[in-house]
Amino acid sequence: MAVQISPSILSADFARLAAEAEAVDGADWLHVDVMDNHFVPNLTLGVPIVESLSKATGTPLDCHLMIEDPDRWAPQYVEAGAGSVTFHAEAAAAPVRLAREIRAKGARASMALKPATPIEPYEDLLPELDMLLIMTVEPGFGGQSFLDIMLPKIRRTRELISKHGLELWLQVDGGVAESTIERCAEAGADVFVAGSAVYGKDDPAAAVRALRAKATD
Ligand code: DX5
Ligand code: ZN
Repeated sequence: MAVQISPSILSADFARLAAEAEAVDGADWLHVDVMDNHFVPNLTLGVPIVESLSKATGTPLDCHLMIEDPDRWAPQYVEAGAGSVTFHAEAAAAPVRLAREIRAKGARASMALKPATPIEPYEDLLPELDMLLIMTVEPGFGGQSFLDIMLPKIRRTRELISKHGLELWLQVDGGVAESTIERCAEAGADVFVAGSAVYGKDDPAAAVRALRAKATD
C-alpha cells in the first residue's frame, strides 16, 4: 500500500495555478476541488480551468466534484485531462454507470462519501471503483478541523477492500495535517489530500515530504 500525497489547490493562489502546481514538485497528484454552490455552499472552478491546468502541469489531476448532477459533468472532466475523477455518492443518479463511463474514457473512477454517509450500502459497488474518498470534514471549505469520528469508517472500509481482495485506493480529505495523517494511515488510508497543511506552509514541497514521511512511518 504505497502512500500518495495529493495537495489541494483550494488553498493555493488561483491567479498563479501553474506556479502553484510546480511548488509541490514531488506530489503524486494535484487535488482539484470543483464546487457548484448547490451540492456545497461554495463555488470554485470548472472544466475550462481543469483543461488549462492539465496542459500546464505534468502532475496528474485528481478532480473532486462537489457538484449536483455528476452523471452529466464527470465525463467532461476526463475529457479536460483529469487522471482521476471523484463524484459524490449522494449526488450521483447512477453511480455504476458513471464509474464505468469514467473508466471507459480513460481516467480512474472514484466515489466520495460525506461524513454522514455510511460505506456499507456501497459494498457491492467497490469493484467498479479505482478509489473511494472518505471525507474527514463536511465538504465545502478548506482549513476545517479533522473529524476523528471518521476513523472507524476508514477502518471498516479498509476491511471491506481486503475482504474482497480489491486494489482500490482509499483517500481521505479534510483536516489532513502532520498532526492527523498518522491516524488516517494507521486506519488504512493510502491517498492523502492536504490543502492548508501544504499551501499554508512557506515551503509546500517540504510539507509534502513531511506528510509522506509521517504517513509512511
Ligand atoms: C473540502 C475539500 C478539500 C479541502 C481540504 O471540501 O474537498 O479538498 O481543500 O482542505 P484542508 O486540507 O485545508 O482541510
Ligand atoms: Zn477535496
